[in-house]
Amino acid sequence: MSFAALWESLLPIGRDAGTGGYRRLSWTAADAECRRWFFNSADERGLRATADRNGNLWAWWDVPQTGPGAGPPGAVVTGSHLDSVPDGGAYDGPLGVVTGFAAVDLLRLRGRLPVRPLAVAAFFEEEGGRFGVACLGSRLLTGAIGPDQARALTDRDGVTLAAAMAAAGQDPAALGPDPGLLAGIAAYVELHVEQGRALADLDAAIGVGERIWPHGRWRLTFTGRADHAGTTRLADRRDPMLACAATILAARGAATQEGALATVGKVTAEPGAVNAISSSVTAWLDARAPDTSRLRAVVDRVLAQARAAAVAQGVDVEAGQESVTPAVDFDTALCDRLVATLAAAGIRAPVLPTGAGHDAGVLAAHVPAGMLFVRNPTGVSHSPAEHAQPEDCATGVTALAAVLEDLACH
Ligand code: GLV
Ligand code: MN
Ligand code: MN
Repeated sequence: MSFAALWESLLPIGRDAGTGGYRRLSWTAADAECRRWFFNSADERGLRATADRNGNLWAWWDVPQTGPGAGPPGAVVTGSHLDSVPDGGAYDGPLGVVTGFAAVDLLRLRGRLPVRPLAVAAFFEEEGGRFGVACLGSRLLTGAIGPDQARALTDRDGVTLAAAMAAAGQDPAALGPDPGLLAGIAAYVELHVEQGRALADLDAAIGVGERIWPHGRWRLTFTGRADHAGTTRLADRRDPMLACAATILAARGAATQEGALATVGKVTAEPGAVNAISSSVTAWLDARAPDTSRLRAVVDRVLAQARAAAVAQGVDVEAGQESVTPAVDFDTALCDRLVATLAAAGIRAPVLPTGAGHDAGVLAAHVPAGMLFVRNPTGVSHSPAEHAQPEDCATGVTALAAVLEDLACH
């Protein structure tokens, strides 16, 4: 089956031998290998592969123009992303791209021909794993982030996005919205590994996405005074780590209170000596909630507690929002159509909301967008332990092929 061969060929790229996790950060050597894999996979299928002005990848199954004067019919696009969080799993992103190519193979095996262009896409920096802003490729495409702001983003070593792209051979001056490309898309359907256990509980291999919770990222920097760990009396300290610790616990409390989620998964301490009080500590808050008012309530509460903790410890705190994604309701007509198409193919697909962000969520403001989820037996994601059973992945290929056939072949 073509899925297995494609999957095996992508699997070794960017995997850390020590952890078994993936480090496919944008515009790195591993990312370049993923891009080569994408172009090879497209070439093997006779698909026309291109990188758009923002560095997103597209593999086009073109159709002949229909009649003089007829404008090009809107394209049906599927895909996802190939980048990972640091030490991410194999499935988050790649499952959608590999399944896209495998679904093209299945349509061809069945002798189906699209009547509108069909593309498999891979959007860059979906995770924000290197430059901090999630869904950067689709945000640039849609104009949800400006090119100047994007070019100036930096990674943890201070390398700008502009410099990283230029070093990888992609012209950063070309970054920006692409209304022409967007206007040519009639529908986007992203298949993704489920990042929770709802499908396992419902005993279903495939789900259909209904909505994405609003979510965002905030950076908090606590600045105190570096001093000696062995000689500074407790009363004399201005330790930013204590204010940070109190804030992390406050985030958990605020999320519990609001029925939301809040996570601090990244903290850096300067200068980072075991035997010194830190001069500054930076923490990143990831917050998600069922609706905007609860998200706001969580963030307001955390920021207020961060300020109170800073006063209590005699340190300063500065807070800034890095990105925010409003709630997304996927196109209802498309969602209903996905459920009906899958039912006709003998696949029962419950409709689910999710707290995870996706390029489909960014594109949904511009084109009818929808999502398919493939069951994840443990629900674990953003971890090397992320998994989906081969038979569920195979059902994912069948499901996506049915959807693409319905949307693009009639
Ligand atoms: C993307 O995986 C996210 O962080 O929601
Ligand atoms: Mn992810
Ligand atoms: Mn993803």
